[in-house]
Amino acid sequence: MKKKKILAVIAAATMALSMVGCGSSGGGSSSNGVANKDKPLVWYNRQPSNSSTGELDKTALNFNKDTYYVGFDANQGAELQGEMVLDYIKKNAATIDRNGDGVIGYVLAIGDIGHNDSIARTRGVRSALGTGVDANGAVDSAPAGTNVDGSAKVVQDATLEVDGKKYTIRELASQEMKNSAGATWDAATAGNAIGTWTASFGDQIDVVVSNNDGMGMSMFNAWAKDNKVPTFGYDANSDAVAAIAEGYGGTISQHADVQAYLTLRVLRNALDGVDVDTGIGTADEAGNKLDEGVDYRYSAEERSYYALNIAVTADNYQDFTDSTKVYDKVSKQLDASKSPEKKVWLDIYNASDNFLSSTYQPLLQNYDDLLNLKVDYIGGDGQTESNITNRLGNPGEYDAFAINMVKTDNAASYTSILNK
Ligand code: BGC
Repeated sequence: MKKKKILAVIAAATMALSMVGCGSSGGGSSSNGVANKDKPLVWYNRQPSNSSTGELDKTALNFNKDTYYVGFDANQGAELQGEMVLDYIKKNAATIDRNGDGVIGYVLAIGDIGHNDSIARTRGVRSALGTGVDANGAVDSAPAGTNVDGSAKVVQDATLEVDGKKYTIRELASQEMKNSAGATWDAATAGNAIGTWTASFGDQIDVVVSNNDGMGMSMFNAWAKDNKVPTFGYDANSDAVAAIAEGYGGTISQHADVQAYLTLRVLRNALDGVDVDTGIGTADEAGNKLDEGVDYRYSAEERSYYALNIAVTADNYQDFTDSTKVYDKVSKQLDASKSPEKKVWLDIYNASDNFLSSTYQPLLQNYDDLLNLKVDYIGGDGQTESNITNRLGNPGEYDAFAINMVKTDNAASYTSILNK
């Protein structure tokens, strides 16, 4: 009698508990019973961090035990970009100074003053060229505005000696390419900016540098190509790589083929309940494996995977013509009996971002099939978080989440939904 009663109580309690799991107020879980807050989550491309100080948002990065960030090594890539520009200038010093005034002038398109990648690239170029100035222990990454006379405070003139001849290097102008609606890394804005700059000091511009290829190509097509001014970008988008044959100076591959794989792979591993290194540093059963230290590095403390960058110039661009091709080392299909189909919600913060839409998303779409993931791709407007979070109305429908924020400070806009 007593035993029966206890059993009944347990049954009722279990039912109540499972109802909390499924009920609308607790909205917390999907049919498989896992609470949204416990589902695998990957941040990618925009690392949760303070957009003024760059400090990582450790709360977001440790949202649950299956939370990671996937991006690329911003500093290593930025250094490469800076060196690439410097090498080019050194090799072409005799002819690069178009108006022969002894000043090698460059303009710089800045993507987003609050984005770690953008900050690193601005610093990388300024430190390699010697135009950087110190601000609180790091190279100042603030836009200079126009600096045709060399009087700006956030940059300085540098001196470069090549074959016994001295040149001044000057950042003639730089600005954040943000449109009036608030979208950053905005290619059209960069196209307009080069128009404005060249109208007043075009003959002084010897080199064009950009935080990414989207803006770089816009400036190249609007002006630099016709005027034979080398333009340097970042991302190795297919159109930029092809333009190297037409005078685009070079770009950096941030190994998007490795990043897109890692973005989905860390989710897949968590969903399969296997070690997170499976198919990454350790071969999976299909034979997928990356090389740590060559393809990527992992920081356990930062919960972050960083793909490594490669410079793409006239010397090697033939190897990079298709930016959407899956990486050979991780191109093998997973066995669906062991890694069954799962549903992933994934957003792209700005559907018209050149890199994300022309390189990253096509790669994700190639890998989702190989990894047996059914991914819903949500394209944002690049301006407001709510445009995206409004479309995360029913997280219970999904097994895992991949998030690309508009602003790196805004992780809580997403985690608060998963915590509900
Ligand atoms: C890319 C840019 C892109 C930005 C978006 C960067 O890593 O290099 O091209 O616009 O991410 O967040």
